[in-house]
Amino acid sequence: MTDWWKKSTVYQIYPRSFMDSDGDGIGDIQGIIQKLDYLKKLGIDIIWLSPVYDSPNDDNGYDIRDYYKIMREFGTMDDFDEMLDAIHQRGMKLMMDLVVNHTSDEHKWFQEHDDFYIWRDEPNNWKSVFSGPAWDYDEAREQYYLHIFSKKQPDLNWENPKLREKVYEMMRWWLDKGVDGFRMDVINFISKDPALPDGPDGDGSQHFMNGPRIHEFLREMNDEVLLKYDCVTVGEMPGAGTDDARIYTDPENREVNMIFTFEHMDLDGGPGGKWDFRELNLVDLKENLEKWQHALHGVGWNSLYWNNHDQPRIVSRFGDDDDFRVKSAKMLATCLHMMQGTPYIYQGEEIGMTNVTFDSIDDYKDIETLNMYKEKLEAGVGHDDIMRSIYAKGRDNARTPMQWSKDANGGFTSGEPWIAVNPNYREINADAALEDTDSIFYYYQKLIELRKSEDIITDGDFRLLHRNHPEVFAYERVHGVAQLVIYCNFSSNEHRFDRPHGEVLIQNYDGLASGDELVLRPWEAVVFDQRKGK
Ligand code: NOJ
Repeated sequence: MTDWWKKSTVYQIYPRSFMDSDGDGIGDIQGIIQKLDYLKKLGIDIIWLSPVYDSPNDDNGYDIRDYYKIMREFGTMDDFDEMLDAIHQRGMKLMMDLVVNHTSDEHKWFQEHDDFYIWRDEPNNWKSVFSGPAWDYDEAREQYYLHIFSKKQPDLNWENPKLREKVYEMMRWWLDKGVDGFRMDVINFISKDPALPDGPDGDGSQHFMNGPRIHEFLREMNDEVLLKYDCVTVGEMPGAGTDDARIYTDPENREVNMIFTFEHMDLDGGPGGKWDFRELNLVDLKENLEKWQHALHGVGWNSLYWNNHDQPRIVSRFGDDDDFRVKSAKMLATCLHMMQGTPYIYQGEEIGMTNVTFDSIDDYKDIETLNMYKEKLEAGVGHDDIMRSIYAKGRDNARTPMQWSKDANGGFTSGEPWIAVNPNYREINADAALEDTDSIFYYYQKLIELRKSEDIITDGDFRLLHRNHPEVFAYERVHGVAQLVIYCNFSSNEHRFDRPHGEVLIQNYDGLASGDELVLRPWEAVVFDQRKGK
């Protein structure tokens, strides 16, 4: 088995919003099949598919009712098999979402196997990630069950070896079918401190994130399942720091191949958490990513991402989605894709899709957003203030339908979409991107190719430059000596530096500004290859 995933680029599909083939307004598997050539053209190696399992959709599929069945709106198991074949025929791989911290309360286990869940006579003070208490009372059992997410997502009891064996059996079933790996949903939450102590202000995270038996469980999962297959794993791990990540991703430990860290995504949140948003301080971002680049170099492996189905759109968040949308989207892509790790592209990122500002709360569908809105309104916060934080941070920013064309509903559906399309689809869509040789799409395509051809991107060390510069993120990729020098302007101001030697490897402007200096124009990104030229 090799580390083939180190040179791969992953594309995340959120199936509900990707492509609807049958006009019911909900994306589906046949829709995905129609678009595989598009992904192949982009240069994608691995598709990460958000959950397609049978689910009552309290949390859009992250509440699974049956791990062995496809959600009716998405199609059938035959459709799934056809899709898997079609992916493999094109030389791509499929990574499934593995959601085993919790199931749906409609999963038959919840009715049949009490000891698969976490029950207490008295709840502790933990709050749910989706607002309100993390415990709900079950009348029949006369006890409370734990749900870190919604009350329809009861947490599984990983202390129970029978439950663990059921999970491993299910994973083997999918791998035997031919899937190529798993993205593991909040996998570092599965081991809870059995005493379930109260947490400060109801925040129980220190008792369930990176819990006492987490490494043991992951190792067991590898020994029982994963090591028998040539597959790839990425653990979604909120609250994992670099020390944890070194343990999780060191191949010696047999846990996961790489992780999703959240630290860089939390930098524009305040003391009140993600909704308490503030301007990003670029120096914080640089130092955070530097820390991660160094911590995992030569030890483990990281994933590189700006977007997913839980995050606002990066071009609206750290870029300029107005005057410099195309330039800043390319700059952000450069900044991320020149680092060490496996890059993830979230659907629509490759065409620079933006956040959305719906007027009415009724246009929002996400349970996290809706629960937060209700809770804040009841606490006396004004509608406009809450909407402002939803515009900045709400998960539906990422979940509006993929914009394929300038046709009605962006070509996503011939029916009524389950969530409204971003009105800017007439201008921002995949058709337009494919027609324009200078588009964000083709820029991503080039970055993906460079990762394949230039080993320094995969293997080199990282050295931060101009640490305290407030608007420019510059770094080198080093192998003995610096080989690539990357300059990214996170602003619309001009900035001047000494011009590094070397030829330009990739840039988001046509040519350099004249003279001996390096003059960085608004949102400019340029990579110098110091192995070439003077
Ligand atoms: C993380 C997933 O990415 C998110 O969408 C989901 O709501 C929670 N885990 C719960 O499964």
